[in-house]
Amino acid sequence: MPDKTNKGTTRNSRRKFIASGGAIAAGMCLGGPGIAKAAAVETLALNGGRKAVTASASGSTAWPLFGDAERKAVDAVVSSPGYGEIQALEKAWQEHFKPPYCKSHINGTSALTSALFALNLPPGSEILVPSLDPWFGILPMRFFGLVPVFVDNHPRTLNFDLEDAKKRLTKNTRAIEVVHLFGLPCDMEAICDFAKEKGLLVLEDCAHAHNASINGKFIGNWGQIGAFSCQGSKVLPAIEGGMGHYENREYYERAASFGHYECPGQFPRDSKYRKYSATGLGLKLRIHPMGAALARCQLKVLDQQTELEREQNHSLNSRLCQLPGISEQAPGPGVKRVYWRWNPLFIDPAKAGMSREAAVRALKAEGVAVGNLNYSVSHRDAVFNEPEWWHHPPVIPEQLPGLDEALRTGISLPRFTKPVPELIDQYVAAFEKVWAHRASLGKS
Ligand SMILES: Cc1ncc(COP(=O)(O)O)c(C=O)c1O
Repeated sequence: MPDKTNKGTTRNSRRKFIASGGAIAAGMCLGGPGIAKAAAVETLALNGGRKAVTASASGSTAWPLFGDAERKAVDAVVSSPGYGEIQALEKAWQEHFKPPYCKSHINGTSALTSALFALNLPPGSEILVPSLDPWFGILPMRFFGLVPVFVDNHPRTLNFDLEDAKKRLTKNTRAIEVVHLFGLPCDMEAICDFAKEKGLLVLEDCAHAHNASINGKFIGNWGQIGAFSCQGSKVLPAIEGGMGHYENREYYERAASFGHYECPGQFPRDSKYRKYSATGLGLKLRIHPMGAALARCQLKVLDQQTELEREQNHSLNSRLCQLPGISEQAPGPGVKRVYWRWNPLFIDPAKAGMSREAAVRALKAEGVAVGNLNYSVSHRDAVFNEPEWWHHPPVIPEQLPGLDEALRTGISLPRFTKPVPELIDQYVAAFEKVWAHRASLGKS
């Protein structure tokens, strides 16, 4: 257990001691601070010692956190069925995120599909998209004759690698689609500057990043369109739901006409989409009013929840990242991130002095809920490699070294959704213990 009486100094000297080398791992008594000696001689749980993590983790990652407010809101829809909740959600969303225009959709995939339609690109247009990204915003490109061009992910942010994207630019490139993975914003200033210089449109997949911002500007308001998912695992959960942000009236009216036949009739008289008031443009992607009601409740607690998680993860990561070879997803200047699903970290085996696998094995034995980082790598999925599904087949890269490195070195820790200070202290103690033994843990 960490020494609670003298937190800062004890932790610092303990970490310096651990960082100082492998002699500790042999259990030698070097005469350092008492707690450091304790870390050194404590037997690893892997070898039959006491586990470092003993606090209950029950409920610590529970999600979504629905309660009385959500029950009442859903009840109200059942008691008085209608669509009023949809307008109420769009109004509340507009007030919170302040996009120029917004429209709710049945889920994130439909928000992304409508966005691809709204961009109105000619068939054969290439869209640069990161490979470390599930299919939702990529596969619908095939309906519009668009061409995904897979781009590398940066190994230490996990996000769209602009430098790699620059190498994949052709005369057919028309847009960039970025994903703010696990809640960390992409470098939108650089991406938007580049897009402007090259005349490209920018679509943001914000499925993981509600309430994240860069220099006070919300994610979703940087590109021409931002698409959000409110599926049950997401930062703003409604079990199923989605939202689009639109830079101008044209994108908004086009996206809304695509999947909402009830919208064109409400557009201003001079709208070129008003004539589709009887039909819309082919799909019906209206959010369920119960989803809208749940999303509106969650919007009210979004600031509080994202701040709680930010503080907790900072408390954990700022301590873990002082250990040799550990780093977190690197935020750029002015970034306020959020967390979706996991807290991803990286272990550099050369600096850590042990392999990621050895560290994960020992940490698991200590009671840490840790695993290798594992996430969708779309360019390897069958559907992107079979030309029969495409008017213009995707561009599949031979190698994506950044992505490979990310998956080789990444680990995932839990995203704690409730305050768990004792558990976090014990996680730190577990890492410090394992790091103290790192030389003996070997490279396997
Ligand atoms: C990055 C990303 N984009 C889009 C989506 C699609 O959202 P939905 O499930 O609401 O359709 C998801 C959902 O998991 C996602 O992870």
